[in-house]
Amino acid sequence: MVRVAGTANADWFLRSGRAAYDAIAANVPLEEIDAVLDFGCGCGRVLRYWQNHDGSAAGSDRDAGAVEWCRDHLPFARVDRNGLAPPLAYDDDSFDLVYALSVFTHLTEELQTAWRDELRRVLRPGGRLLLTTHGRSYLPRLEREERDRFERGELVVRWGELPGSNLCSAYHPETYLRETFAHGFEVAQVDPEGARGNPTQDLIVLRRPLSG
Ligand SMILES: C[S@@+](CC[C@H](N)C(=O)[O-])C[C@H]1O[C@@H](n2cnc3c(N)ncnc32)[C@H](O)[C@@H]1O
Repeated sequence: MVRVAGTANADWFLRSGRAAYDAIAANVPLEEIDAVLDFGCGCGRVLRYWQNHDGSAAGSDRDAGAVEWCRDHLPFARVDRNGLAPPLAYDDDSFDLVYALSVFTHLTEELQTAWRDELRRVLRPGGRLLLTTHGRSYLPRLEREERDRFERGELVVRWGELPGSNLCSAYHPETYLRETFAHGFEVAQVDPEGARGNPTQDLIVLRRPLSG
């Protein structure tokens, strides 16, 4: 829990995981979701809440210990380990929903682009990608020069030399999300501070177009 979420408070871990699941349910019609993938699932903070889902649930993460824990304790889900860069272990068009909660927040731009395209590959046409990002509410964390870049609509990445670790942190302006990150998708929703289980991150829902 400490490695993934930065806290040993099990009560917070469980409650925030439930809130994250509820935020997904509030933004995605679950009756349209059969197969779901939790990309960057960590030690199952949110994946655990798919246990009674009427379909299949999968998780993937690069952290071997977290993957092992999920395999031992969340047997209803298929959980795989992936590398820092793509690919994933799944076929094209495998999922109706992929979500990545506070994962793109820890990747360089190059890795974000590669993973965006990989997650699109494993989504069926019409499928949804839900992610959370550090948006405007995180501006006070940034230095003046970083804030200026953010205000110009540029992605800001700190500690890019340690991608995939929680030290590496990325900050996404809304214009960057809409005009650059969303390439290959339709933007269904951008909800500032809408990630209730990862406060105060923004919540974004993209859709893979039905054709193309
Ligand atoms: C801040 S934690 C969030 C974990 C989980 N999504 C949650 O909300 O509880 C970031 C997670 O992303 C994972 N991660 C970072 N880079 C990754 C990558 N390239 N592929 C898969 N997982 C990655 C980390 O191992 C970690 O479990």
